[in-house]
This record gives sequence, C-alpha cells and structure tokens, in this order.
Amino acid sequence: MSGTVDPRPVAVVSGGSRGLGLALVTDFLRRGYRVETFSRTESAELAALRESAGPDALFWSAVDGTDADAVEEFVRTAVRRHRRIDVLVNNAAVGLEGLLTLTAPAAIDAALRTNVALPVLLARACLKPMLARRDGVVINLSSINALRGQTGVAVYGAAKAALDGLTRGLAREVGPAGVRVVSVAPGYFESEMTAGISADQRRRIVRRTPLGRLGSTEDVLGVIRFLTSPAASFITGQTITVDGGYTC
Ligand SMILES: NC(=O)c1ccc[n+]([C@@H]2O[C@H](COP(=O)([O-])OP(=O)(O)OC[C@H]3O[C@@H](n4cnc5c(N)ncnc54)[C@H](OP(=O)(O)O)[C@@H]3O)[C@@H](O)[C@H]2O)c1
Repeated sequence: MSGTVDPRPVAVVSGGSRGLGLALVTDFLRRGYRVETFSRTESAELAALRESAGPDALFWSAVDGTDADAVEEFVRTAVRRHRRIDVLVNNAAVGLEGLLTLTAPAAIDAALRTNVALPVLLARACLKPMLARRDGVVINLSSINALRGQTGVAVYGAAKAALDGLTRGLAREVGPAGVRVVSVAPGYFESEMTAGISADQRRRIVRRTPLGRLGSTEDVLGVIRFLTSPAASFITGQTITVDGGYTC
C-alpha cells in the first residue's frame, strides 16, 4: 500500500466523546470520512465506535483543550497522518451558569479557554493544511445565547458571540483561498450539557418554541451535513440558527 494516496476526506471534531460531538463523529464515518477527535476522557460509546471503525478511520487522543501545546500537537499528528484536513468542527465546549458577580474568576477563565481560545487555536492550526489545498470548511458551534440575552449565561453567551465574530472575520480572510467558515447556533437540544434543565425550564422552552419541542442532535447534525456538502459551497461567514423558531 505504500505510495498510494488515501482519497478519503478528513474531519477534525473537538469533543467527540459524547453528545453532538459523538453524533458528528459517527456521521462523518458513515459518510466515508476519516475522523480525528479528542476529549479529556473517552466514553464507552466512543471506544466501541473506534473498535468497529477499524484502525485507520477513527483516531482519538486524550487532550485537555485548555492546554494550547497539546492542542497544537494533536493537529500536527493529524496532519502528519493524513496530509490533509477537509473539515474542522469546533464542537467542544463547557456550559457555565450563574450570575456573573457570583462566578469565580477561575471558572470564567476555564470557560473562556475552552469555549473561545480552543476553537481559535484549532482553527489556526487546521487552516494551514486547508489553505495549502485551497479547500476546506470550518464549522463553529455557537448558540442562541450568542444572539439573545439570558440571565445566568452571560459568559457562555459572550464566548459564543466571540465565535460568531471569528466566523465572520475568518470567512473574509480565507474565502479568497477557497475555505469556508460558518457558525451553527443551536437552541436547546438534549445532551449532557442540558441534562440539568429543570422540568419547569423545559416547559418554558417548549412553550416559547414554535415547533413545540427541544431540539435533538439529529436536528443539528442535518444542518452540519448540509454545510459540509457541495450544496453549501456558496455559504460562508454566516450564523445558521437551528432552534425550532425559539429566537424568531
Ligand atoms: N446542548 C445544547 O442544548 C446546546 C445548545 C446550543 C449550543 N450547544 C453547543 O453545541 C456543542 C456541543 O454541545 P453538547 O451539548 O453536545 O456538549 P456535551 O454533551 O457537554 O459534550 C461536550 C464535549 O466537549 C468535550 N470537552 C469539554 N471540555 C473539554 C476540554 N477542556 N478539552 C477537551 N474536550 C472538552 C467533552 O469531553 P470531556 O468532558 O471528556 O473533555 C465532550 O466530548 C457545544 O459547543 C455547545 O456549546 C449546545
């Protein structure tokens, strides 16, 4: 096999151990991609997926995204292995809830490192091979909290709004080289991040949502499938909201 070039595209997904990240990894594999992902811990589901995907399709590393050197090394290894990156999905994030004045500076710093600095560093590292091939897509997972104010999630909302700014700035910077950058802003969908929502809050969200339910990972996945397909080849620099109409 030496000397042959593997034609399969490569997707980098941060935070592939559970929730939307795990769904994305599964979907990219189904679509014939090789996938590079990381998280701080590996879930049983991701370990099983690695087993069934075989040794040359799915690669996971234990990386704490707040460690900039480890993140750079993760991308360097991926590029050495595949010689290309076609898609980056900046998915990993942490929720941070609480009134700002009652939130510890260390918690704010950790959230901003994971939710802003990590996606910026990953984009910086992954764009290099994309620009070299004049092809690629960066998807930033934003949130409706970037678009609407809500008590208790000011830091999380600020981080997601920063990602939308990154999307617009980078789209201008790398568009001329054939690389697209898009934000996807989901409303509430079922995952570990939203597991703590009370029954009351859940009812309120459903009542405010024209389509009358919380989202699912499949709802978000479908949009990312579209955005990484040739059907979306003229879309860049935008934030696509996927919230059942919550913000309309
Ligand atoms: N769920 C929602 O309702 C909702 C709504 C709007 C937007 N979003 C956004 O959608 C994306 C996915 O959300 P989700 O609900 O699927 O989240 P989730 O279930 O909490 O999963 C987060 C993933 O990120 C990883 N991660 C977190 N901190 C990390 C770090 N420091 N280093 C490396 N990996 C880290 C986690 O793995 P480890 O913990 O093992 O590291 C996990 O794999 C996020 O960007 C989120 O902000 C979610």
